[in-house]
Amino acid sequence: MTDLDPYLESFDIEPGYLDWAAFGPLSGAVRSEASADAELFGTGRRSSIDLVSNRSGEARALLAELLDAADDEVVLQPSTSYGLMHALYGLSGQVLISRAEFPSLTVTATRAAALRGDLAVQWFEPAGGFVTVDAVAEAVTEQTTAVAVSLVDFRTGYLADLAGLRDVIGDRLLIVDAIQGFGAVDADFAAADVVCGNGYKWLRAGRGTGWARFGDRARARIEPVLSGFDGVAGGLPMDEVPPPAPTADAYQVTHPDQLAAARLATALGEVRSAGVAAIAAAVADRADQILFLAERYGVPVATPADRDRRAGIVALAPEPAHAAALAAALANRGVVFTARAGLVRLAAHAGTGEDTMVLLGDALAEFAAGGTW
Ligand SMILES: Cc1ncc(COP(=O)(O)O)c(C=O)c1O
Repeated sequence: MTDLDPYLESFDIEPGYLDWAAFGPLSGAVRSEASADAELFGTGRRSSIDLVSNRSGEARALLAELLDAADDEVVLQPSTSYGLMHALYGLSGQVLISRAEFPSLTVTATRAAALRGDLAVQWFEPAGGFVTVDAVAEAVTEQTTAVAVSLVDFRTGYLADLAGLRDVIGDRLLIVDAIQGFGAVDADFAAADVVCGNGYKWLRAGRGTGWARFGDRARARIEPVLSGFDGVAGGLPMDEVPPPAPTADAYQVTHPDQLAAARLATALGEVRSAGVAAIAAAVADRADQILFLAERYGVPVATPADRDRRAGIVALAPEPAHAAALAAALANRGVVFTARAGLVRLAAHAGTGEDTMVLLGDALAEFAAGGTW
């Protein structure tokens, strides 16, 4: 038995689920702790309320450990997008963003630039939507003050090289949307200045479990413009308006949802026990298997072949005329996936069973057999 086995055994979902990039079914531990915490919150006992509330601190400490950061650089958020809003609304200069990024970056940066007189979005269109080190090196200018990127691209599954990006952008800010990889990929988070995520996909913690890390350089350069009453040092301000806290607390509005934070703490505990490297290797193996099946049945893919440049997402890119047939073959076999903009996105987790891979293989075989190409 390895440390990973209990984690793998904790996946108790029905076969066919390959949509972890959309939603991660809650782990058994998260489900049972959540209902126990809800009961504690119903007692009216101070000690019970404190017990659940204190899990916010536990979640922050676990995040800090997994992000290789100090505890006070981490702050809980309602979602990834809220964390990115704190980062982008407080930014000045020019932020480099691929047009193909998830709208949590593109829309937020556009709104922030419209509001602030001193921020502009520097759009670029890297080949294949892959925000490679070379593409960024070519696109940055002297005016660029920050680069914002997804750790794992929601469409293609491209895995950004955070250390490589750091090398080419010098001391400009590196802002990372990590929701599609955190906990499922072994990334160099210390290379980033801001990292934001949420626990409702790969962490299996449900919604409301967002978080953000603001490192030293980020806190020095990003104004906490959306800072609320809970973003100050020293507790509830009374009859005064203190400045925002010097820590990441500055980038928060009010208290976190304690039940959500407790779910996050439970899910992070499961990841820490299993080990990110081991989870990431198992996720990559499943992605390899999906790519193998796609190749075997002649289905083109939009995901990089290089194992180092992908994580859990594999995007099938059928000819437009064949997309409906592919989606139908998958649905007929009970495979759960996301089809969007001509791509069929499959995302297996470490605990995705062989039974699911068999369903996928059968669906792709059926698709290939019915093909007229
Ligand atoms: C890359 C990426 N960023 C952000 C989000 C949205 O995250 P949240 O709901 O935590 O704001 C998603 C959701 O699919 C996503 O794929």
